Amino acid sequence: MAEKKVLLKYSDDPTYKTLNGYLECNGYRGLKSAIAKERQFTIDSIKSAGLRGRGGAGFPTWIKWNGIPKEKTKKHYLICNADEGEPGTFKDKQLMEACPFLLVEGMTIAAYATNADVGYIYIRGEYVDAARALRSAIDEAYQRGYLGKNILGSGMDFDLYIHMGAGAYECGEESALMSSLMGERGMPRLKFPHAPLPTVSGVFESPTVINNVETYCTVPSILYYGGEWYSMMGASTKNSKGTKIFSVSGHVNKPGNYEIEFGTPLSELLELAGGMKGGALKACIPGGSSVPMIDAETCAKAIIGYEEMGEHKTMVGSGGCMFLNEHTCIVSFIWRTSLFYANESCGKCTPCREGTRWMNEVLERIVKGNGKEGDIETLLDICSQIDGRSFCGLGDAACWPVAGAIRVFREEFEYYIQHGKSMVKSKFQKSMLPA
Ligand SMILES: Cc1cc2nc3c(=O)[nH]c(=O)nc-3n(C[C@H](O)[C@H](O)[C@H](O)COP(=O)(O)O)c2cc1C
Ligand code: SF4
Repeated sequence: MAEKKVLLKYSDDPTYKTLNGYLECNGYRGLKSAIAKERQFTIDSIKSAGLRGRGGAGFPTWIKWNGIPKEKTKKHYLICNADEGEPGTFKDKQLMEACPFLLVEGMTIAAYATNADVGYIYIRGEYVDAARALRSAIDEAYQRGYLGKNILGSGMDFDLYIHMGAGAYECGEESALMSSLMGERGMPRLKFPHAPLPTVSGVFESPTVINNVETYCTVPSILYYGGEWYSMMGASTKNSKGTKIFSVSGHVNKPGNYEIEFGTPLSELLELAGGMKGGALKACIPGGSSVPMIDAETCAKAIIGYEEMGEHKTMVGSGGCMFLNEHTCIVSFIWRTSLFYANESCGKCTPCREGTRWMNEVLERIVKGNGKEGDIETLLDICSQIDGRSFCGLGDAACWPVAGAIRVFREEFEYYIQHGKSMVKSKFQKSMLPA
């Protein structure tokens, strides 16, 4: 059992942040093989690699890229979603801080494939070090002909800019991100089929591709070593190819980012993170706070893959994997999670604006010891009114953890409501609650 480092291979080497250091580690070989061929070759390589978006939804990357009009009538844009607001997820931060050229090269290859003129990296406002590392990489790339006009003599022009976000989780949702980038309020827009796809009309009403940091960082090695090589990793899974970085946190001995091959058992990821700390494993939230939790028994069986995790009613998500030990009170954990979503709801649509707040109020009265009979049914009813009926994915994301926790740990909710206290001796104190 070991990590399979493709993206993080040189992340411990400080020279990798400089252009010379990056070039010594096969840097820019992916771009060179891309520009030596037609644009379609790059898209076909991404298709044969089986790359799926690493931002959470796992959408096939090549379909987006291929959706950009081949005939150019206006500017094409390329956006990197570096907002990374999903609680438990911190892989993009490390990629940008330690491997900034990987992102710059990946975006330049994507720009070549989609004929993009301008790229924006929309970075979470708190990620000051990541923005600094990227700014320095972009400056060096311009100075040495890897960005700007006529890149490496190919005739391709591509300009890349950094845009700092201002701390709203909702601005990670792609249409809200584009609104924010254009100087509007960070609220989502109507989506396909009620509005054109971003590849037809995205930012500035122009063809736009938007992908996650990790997605772009994967691209250079696919172009250098080939799509077939990439798709061999994860071959044991139904349709999850390559590697994925998991940000492991919670009650583990060695929290951090671990890059593993798809098809790895979830229990091995826990071992990589040094095993459990302070008690036996009770639950795992494998893909960021919005994905449903699973219990220890399921954890022992789970294989990391998009479809494989789905079989256990959970998801790979963004890869923010939290392991909780036996002393965790699931009810108060979920109350805290629901507070995050209630606070981050942008307020545009009623089910999410009202429902997330209401859900949090019900959970809060339970953890304060004032739960009522029927509260579990109320919570599930609110979830069913929000899930699939909200304007964007934040509404769904707010429901899945609550409904998932009730499905797996229902007796803990029942006990808390009946006895006015947790059935677990946890470190959680009622004094931590708002008055
Ligand atoms: C509320 C919300 C927040 C999101 N936050 C992020 C984020 O921080 N980073 C990200 O890459 N994707 C985020 N997403 C997913 C994006 O909307 C989009 O699917 C993703 O950037 C596409 O890139 P990919 O295909 O490379 O995964 C979020 C989605 C929702 C609904
Ligand atoms: S689901 Fe929530 S975040 Fe999304 S538009 Fe509606 S209120 Fe805003």
